Amino acid sequence: MFSKRIRNVEPSATVQLSNKVKRLKNQGLDILSFTLGEPDFNTPQHIIDAAKKALDEGKTHYTSSLGIPELREVIAKRYGRQNDIEITSDNVIALPAKFALYSAIQSTINKGDEVIIPNPGWVSYGPMVQLARGIPIKVKMSYDDGWGMTAESIEAQLSSKTKAIILNTPANPTGSVLDKETLKGIADLADDRDILIISDEIYEDLVYDDMEHFSIGSLDHVKDKTITVSGLSKSYAMTGWRLGWMIAPKEAIKMVNKLQQHSLTCMPHFIQMAAVAALEHGRDPVLKMRDEFQERRNILIPLLNEIDGVSCEVPKGAFYAFFKVDIGFNSMDLADMLLYKAHVALTPGSAFGSMGANHMRMSYAASRENIIEGVHRISDFVDGFRKDR
Ligand SMILES: Cc1ncc(COP(=O)(O)O)c(C=O)c1O
Repeated sequence: MFSKRIRNVEPSATVQLSNKVKRLKNQGLDILSFTLGEPDFNTPQHIIDAAKKALDEGKTHYTSSLGIPELREVIAKRYGRQNDIEITSDNVIALPAKFALYSAIQSTINKGDEVIIPNPGWVSYGPMVQLARGIPIKVKMSYDDGWGMTAESIEAQLSSKTKAIILNTPANPTGSVLDKETLKGIADLADDRDILIISDEIYEDLVYDDMEHFSIGSLDHVKDKTITVSGLSKSYAMTGWRLGWMIAPKEAIKMVNKLQQHSLTCMPHFIQMAAVAALEHGRDPVLKMRDEFQERRNILIPLLNEIDGVSCEVPKGAFYAFFKVDIGFNSMDLADMLLYKAHVALTPGSAFGSMGANHMRMSYAASRENIIEGVHRISDFVDGFRKDR
């Protein structure tokens, strides 16, 4: 009954884990969950108000499959302003960020094409490539080199079949941020070898200290071969609104629009109106949330590093701590033990690729109290385990 394509794809480890945590919570267990990549803040009120107003005004019908003109315009202006380049609405389509990545891959990858993806990297890149009958080629990154992808590490994996490179900065699960120099190196490589770049920048607003986000698609020599994906989910605490976008050359937008017309049709009108309000309002709410994430990170990382057997680099962006645990368990078993014995839910690093083995991902998009209590529980578990041995 089912296609080979869908049978061969693994379910999303992160979504499955969060379903398991929900089940245990419903059974009355006091589980502290740090598994989902979801801000714990409410969506800013002015955005909610804009959605309500749009509903009252009857903005409840189909729109253009590309998105309403005001939204595409405001996205184009924002990207242009941030990156000091000119793009127009013709370079923009509104769609959920995850679907934008899926569409970018479906629209460009043929059977047997190789696609470079990060290891460790977000759980959906590999399955998305497989669903397009492409072959994911994983570039290994390690704790010791700050979890960064480089032109050299990518070049070592290129072949005559390489069609695209997927970049993710700031990165899930490691929190690494690629700097401008590194991205220039990758752009030169992609240009030389005529390879497409798919740049996932969903965490673009969440960079800390003196780090700055740089968008590779703003470089002149690769802007015609770069598809950039971002959205409101992480920066505006709007995961459930499913509003994101793709910025790409006009021809790519036309192709992706065909997929949109034959699948989603369009984003809901009132949500697009709310997105216009979000993007026109200025970045104050975003900066406030970012500052709070930074504070939480500053609390969490030293606490983790105090645990015997745990080591964690300070993440530069996103809202995840990706830490090494050296107590003789693989990360899947450790995640299960922490869940059932310590009542703390973390995502096992191996869900993100082989280089995540012996690592755990802890989202710090959670309250300070929960973060502190969560680390106590992890610490008590690890210490108890050492004593018992
Ligand atoms: C790296 C990365 N890319 C894309 C997405 C998808 O974002 P959205 O939920 O806005 O579709 C996520 C969500 O967790 C993510 O972590």
